[in-house]
Amino acid sequence: MLISPSILSADFANLQAELARIATADWAHVDVMDGHFVPNLTLGLPVVERLVQVSPVPIDAHLMIEDPDRWAPVYAELGAKSVTFHIEAARDPRMLARTLRAEGARASMALKPATQWAPYEELLPDLDMVLVMTVEPGFGGQSFMADQLPKVRAVRDSVRRHGGEVWIQVDGGVSAATIEQCAEAGADVFVAGTAVYNADDAAANIERLRVLAAE
Ligand code: DX5
Ligand code: ZN
Repeated sequence: MLISPSILSADFANLQAELARIATADWAHVDVMDGHFVPNLTLGLPVVERLVQVSPVPIDAHLMIEDPDRWAPVYAELGAKSVTFHIEAARDPRMLARTLRAEGARASMALKPATQWAPYEELLPDLDMVLVMTVEPGFGGQSFMADQLPKVRAVRDSVRRHGGEVWIQVDGGVSAATIEQCAEAGADVFVAGTAVYNADDAAANIERLRVLAAE
């Protein structure tokens, strides 16, 4: 089980210090938004390259961008340990996942709330993680969508059937109030932005989430 705090809720003027606050986490989740695939714009390659260099934990890059076939491999090349592209934006997801692995990253595919899992089940052998969005991508601090839990269960069932080690990530509205339902549905990688950064003691928040997810 992994906790991956989202720095979308951190102070963007002090990202190195904000990463240091989550040194007890497993990964640091970095939301790359291009203002096209989602209606918000965050940061891109040059910033992520520096975050990789200064982060105490591996970078988990979540790419909410158009043309991931072109850009996602570059994030892997510069050292992001997990790279997530959105299936809604990918042209050749199988080839892209294979390229990410060849670049040394874990290959991960994300599904927006309206996107069903079943059509993509056949991609599982080429994936290391599936991200089930539990909010509409674009912004932190939104309410958790419990109606996405059946999708988490469906992905978990597929992973059981196919075998292999594929992690299931949930992202959006994950907090002390919602993380247990996610774990129960079969998620094992938990992204939390607001729930980690919106208090002085980020380490205590991480620990609380870890304990709840393990119950
Ligand atoms: C939303 C991002 C999330 C976001 C989660 O598009 O992908 O990673 O930062 O933030 P919270 O945990 O506040 O919902
Ligand atoms: Zn994210």
